[in-house]
Amino acid sequence: MTGPVILVVGARPNFMKIAPIHAELKRRGVSQILLHTGQHYDENMSKVFFDDLGMPQPDIYLGIGSGTHATQTAKVMVEFEQVCNEHKPSMVVVVGDVNSTVACTMVCAKEWIPCAHVEAGLRSFDREMPEEINRLVTDAIADLLLTPSPDGDENLRKEGVSEERIKFVGNIMIDSLLNNLERAKSSTIHTDLKIKKGSYGVLTLHRPSNVDDKEAFMRILDALEEIGEKIPLVFPLHPRTRARAEQFELMGRLEAIPNIVLTGPAGYLDFVALMAESKLVLTDSGGLQEETTALGIPCLTLRENTERPITVTEGTNTIVGNSTQTILDAANEILLHGGKAGRIPELWDGHTAGRIADIIEHVISED
Ligand code: UD1
Repeated sequence: MTGPVILVVGARPNFMKIAPIHAELKRRGVSQILLHTGQHYDENMSKVFFDDLGMPQPDIYLGIGSGTHATQTAKVMVEFEQVCNEHKPSMVVVVGDVNSTVACTMVCAKEWIPCAHVEAGLRSFDREMPEEINRLVTDAIADLLLTPSPDGDENLRKEGVSEERIKFVGNIMIDSLLNNLERAKSSTIHTDLKIKKGSYGVLTLHRPSNVDDKEAFMRILDALEEIGEKIPLVFPLHPRTRARAEQFELMGRLEAIPNIVLTGPAGYLDFVALMAESKLVLTDSGGLQEETTALGIPCLTLRENTERPITVTEGTNTIVGNSTQTILDAANEILLHGGKAGRIPELWDGHTAGRIADIIEHVISED
């Protein structure tokens, strides 16, 4: 008998990647288990996404919670190994680059369970990023590497991965974005936050390189103080960012940025609504670089590099780092001239879940 396919989610950026795959497998009648490691657990970092994305509550919840990288990764491995022993999955699907991704992939490799990595092949070539370590390890040992863009295929080939493990399927995040864009239009977030559509910027920050380093955090604040004079900024605060701002005694400065609208983490539909009607997005997130490219909204990435170079070469993204003047110059350029128009990369077409489901069905039929 063929066991179920286990779909793994753990942290906020995983939910919108698994939701369309889960829906497509359900439509096809494939037996599946939705497993949440509990890496993110707050209502507004987790539950709201299940509701917004129309995803059922997880079948299995591991309740791992926060901790050091080693603690989090190890706890997921211990719990996930037990789940695999009990449920004998025919296949496991992991997404993205978070600690839950690499932990479950390592269990699969040792238990000889076929594992597909969705969003494979992305490389920032910056091993100071914990996500880069997760990407390298996951792609070294997952059986199938499903890539969002041809640069991913190239990176994997250069690492010596054989052709039959690599499949260019497109960008799964864009499936969720396109599926929910219409529903996002009924979000009341603009009225709730008292901001006018088309005349504000959106800001997100949570990378350790920006918020765990007080000097870097302050350089960004210097830029925001000037940008805020020109355009209101909506800033949904990630728990890590709030914690660091409090620790560094920067909350007062943050709140005093002219025209800043500080909120807690936003739900999926509210956030899509915020992005879609903004003039620019400033971020250090990975997913936002892609979503802004799909929406045609100019994006400034407050990092030194990106694992998503296609958003720069084809999309609306510009890498600006975290020095005050570079951020300011790039923001002013967008406010004056509108920023990059960009185009939609190949296979960011909203049909990636179908291509992934074809591959999953093929693998489990060989079981
Ligand atoms: C994780 C991912 C990162 C992703 C990000 C999106 C890794 C290595 N990093 O980083 O790639 O971009 O999620 O958010 O997997 N916290 C809460 N409530 C929660 C979750 C976290 O308060 O529901 C707080 C805790 O204090 C925790 C801190 O946020 O220590 C950081 O959470 P963690 O999951 O360790 O990493 P992120 O920075 O969220």
